Amino acid sequence: MSNKWLKDAVFYEIYPQSFYDTNADGIGDFNGIIEKLDYIKSLGCNALWINPCYDSPFRDAGYDVCDYKKVAPRYGTNNDLYRLFDEAHKKGIHVLLDLVPGHTSEEHEWFRKSQSADQPNEFSNRYIWTDGWFAGCNRLPYIAGEAERPATYIINFFKCQPALNYGFLKPEEPWQLPMDHPDAIATREALKDVMRFWLDHGCDGFRVDMASSLVKYDDEKKSGTSAIWRNVREMLDAEYPDAVMVSEWSDPPLALRAGYDMDFYLNHNGGGYASLLRDYDRIIGRNADSDNSYFHRDAKDRDINRFLREYLPWYQDTKDIGYISMLTCNHDTPRPRFTLTPEELKLAYAFIFTMPGVPFLYYGDEIGMRYLNLPTKEGGYFRTGSRSPMQWDNTRNLGFSQGCADTLYLPVDPADDAPTVAAQEADPHSLLNTVRAILRLRHAEPDLQADGAFEPLCNRKGDPFVYRRGSMILAVNPSGDTLSVQVPVAGMKPVFTLGEARVEGSVLHMAGQSFIALK
Ligand code: GLC
Ligand code: CA
Repeated sequence: MSNKWLKDAVFYEIYPQSFYDTNADGIGDFNGIIEKLDYIKSLGCNALWINPCYDSPFRDAGYDVCDYKKVAPRYGTNNDLYRLFDEAHKKGIHVLLDLVPGHTSEEHEWFRKSQSADQPNEFSNRYIWTDGWFAGCNRLPYIAGEAERPATYIINFFKCQPALNYGFLKPEEPWQLPMDHPDAIATREALKDVMRFWLDHGCDGFRVDMASSLVKYDDEKKSGTSAIWRNVREMLDAEYPDAVMVSEWSDPPLALRAGYDMDFYLNHNGGGYASLLRDYDRIIGRNADSDNSYFHRDAKDRDINRFLREYLPWYQDTKDIGYISMLTCNHDTPRPRFTLTPEELKLAYAFIFTMPGVPFLYYGDEIGMRYLNLPTKEGGYFRTGSRSPMQWDNTRNLGFSQGCADTLYLPVDPADDAPTVAAQEADPHSLLNTVRAILRLRHAEPDLQADGAFEPLCNRKGDPFVYRRGSMILAVNPSGDTLSVQVPVAGMKPVFTLGEARVEGSVLHMAGQSFIALK
């Protein structure tokens, strides 16, 4: 079960190309992350997830890896990254790298060999090949006409991302290897070798990309893919007992039983998490008025049960085996500021950061960075708008880079009132300082950390949402109306409030847009 250091962990996700550029080439780098470690610590974050920083043609922002053991020169050298691990550790910050196990870039050496006319070779079965140059597969996406080898291959995501071959749960064709085929096992061992490489150099674990995608024709319970992760977990337990893994799976009951410490609560297609912060269709430029997110002050049909109906059964099923990770956003989703105001964000973050499990803050969300309407970059499409440079201050390029504006990885927010760290540092009520205050509260109160029990106390529509965490009671009223609710709070004292909220006997009075934590 869960590693000790996660009990009070709060993660900060860094999209490295957009965080801080120290050599004026317009692209963020490892030295930039090192320089900002004190800032990250000042937020109350004590762990990092860095998006893929390996060598890559960047047709999917680095999720198309061409060398798992070498960093992309645009971020620095391997030694810079090892130094980042070191410097972070000195400040009590753990670092997770992004592991992309399901596919590589089509420019990876394994794939070059696998696709060559010179067959068979060591890598022939490292990827999934059909048995004819125009023979396809009716259940999996494949590419024809690209390889020297007279066969087509299966992809995992974009065309540039051929799927690695971990075998099929129940092969149906001769070209589909069973999971226990030596070549399928070799892929798994190659994955472990990559993990050992980074763990040996000081990394603390991995965020795992498309974690449920490994075994093809897997069943609903993902038994094939889960068996692989359990095998990986055994290796970690034996060799790196402190290493942790968080999955991009969004099915905690399956992911945590497969050996993950944490699973992201993130549904890309609606669902409970989306109902909190992103209840709209993902269309760039869409009118934000139609947002019906729980934390939108004017949500038409506000109902926390849309979240609880999904979350609670997962939480109850998994609370003893691992953690659900709530997040403000990530590099694949529109920033919450797209539809929510800074005042609404304060309440949303207060809720996210006082939930069980291990929370994740996406860089820039702490100052309410906007979701920008940008043309696609490196396969980002609509996601590009959430990947713009961090806004540090009001100097050149908002402090992101000393380079020329037209060399930047992406343009900075052009708005006159683009939020910056510097401006918000000065204001005690800024979103930035509110995030700090909430995280200070979390670190001060073990009941609010990963393991503290969670139980809804009032989830009626139209009332504030009131929930218990261990011996504490918390409540949030995202609406614009003053609301009162009777709950067992008699004798309890507020330890933290946003807006105006108070206890009178066993009644909680909450002004519009308020939050309270009671002890
Ligand atoms: C994950 C990543 C995303 C990437 C995809 C393919 O969803 O988060 O950014 O494009 O996998 O690797
Ligand atoms: Ca740089």
